[in-house]
Amino acid sequence: MPPPYICTLEEIAPKSQAQGEKNCVKNTEICMITPELKIEDYRITEEPYYLPIGDEVEVFRAAFQCQIPVILKGPTGTGKTRFVEYMAYILGQEGGSSNGRESLPLITVACHEDLTTTDLVGKFLLKGDETVWVDGPLTTAVKTGGICYLDEIVEARKDTTVIIHPLSDHRRILPMDKKGTVAEAHESFFLVISYNPGYQSIIKDLKQSTKQRFISIDFDYPSEEQETRIIQHESAADEETSRALAKVGAKIRHLKGHSLNEGASTRVLVYAGKLIKAGLSPRRSCDVAITTLLSDESEVQLAISEVVSAIFP
Ligand SMILES: Nc1ncnc2c1ncn2[C@@H]1O[C@H](COP(=O)(O)OP(=O)(O)OP(=O)(O)O)[C@@H](O)[C@H]1O
Ligand SMILES: [Mg+2]
Repeated sequence: MPPPYICTLEEIAPKSQAQGEKNCVKNTEICMITPELKIEDYRITEEPYYLPIGDEVEVFRAAFQCQIPVILKGPTGTGKTRFVEYMAYILGQEGGSSNGRESLPLITVACHEDLTTTDLVGKFLLKGDETVWVDGPLTTAVKTGGICYLDEIVEARKDTTVIIHPLSDHRRILPMDKKGTVAEAHESFFLVISYNPGYQSIIKDLKQSTKQRFISIDFDYPSEEQETRIIQHESAADEETSRALAKVGAKIRHLKGHSLNEGASTRVLVYAGKLIKAGLSPRRSCDVAITTLLSDESEVQLAISEVVSAIFP
């Protein structure tokens, strides 16, 4: 499956000079103008593989119909991004897309502490003698419809996140202060944000006034049976190997809290499966994909490798 476009800030206004780009100077800000991505570039062309873990598909579909934005919460590598890709695809197929039965456009922004409202909404740039307005990723999604996915939203500063308030309640509008206009959200515009509750400090928690504009879907590790199927599909390893890796994952998660901050994600189990499929021994694959990765402490590494050697003798 071709990966959907991730709309990084560099794509909107790259900081480094690349061939064919034009330097523009406005106030003290230096930006480059690159050809804008078309909305078609954000559509997913093949159905992503996603194994539902609970009722998350039904909940998300209902929220989309009611235009209530969604928070996806959960540890790293538990399928949040894959789930959004899948939902963008199937909601489009079910008629949610304004463009026939295509996928809904999916515009993803990786949030970080330097993210500003300008980065999300857009800015004026000098192009030759002209000043042109360039929409940010949020504005693009608001105007054309589709899912705007703000990944790791707690990393963004609170004065940035308040921009989504009028968009995420009944008003569904985006004030564009710099332009002096307001954009009304397209019928199929849908806002999704995600974060990993394990990483955040109180300072980084979302404001209640932001949270309480959303519904929340919790992501957690799948059951061993479900994880076996995911590993088998994603890594193409055989069923027996996939089952053994799922067992490794479940056992390592029992160590969490005692000596580990975060358990082995489905993602790293898939990586181990891929290495095994590529011909590396199971023990060595788990060693590089899981054991030495999850912790730098030798005692913890020893505990993990004991789990691995019990399952892959
Ligand atoms: N339910 C699932 N169905 C299919 N694949 C899954 C599922 N859960 C996890 N995966 C696999 O795990 C990988 C990691 O998932 P994904 O990138 O969606 O995690 P994430 O929750 O977005 O992590 P992060 O918080 O680090 O961004 C996927 O590429 C996929 O291979
Ligand atoms: Mg993700």
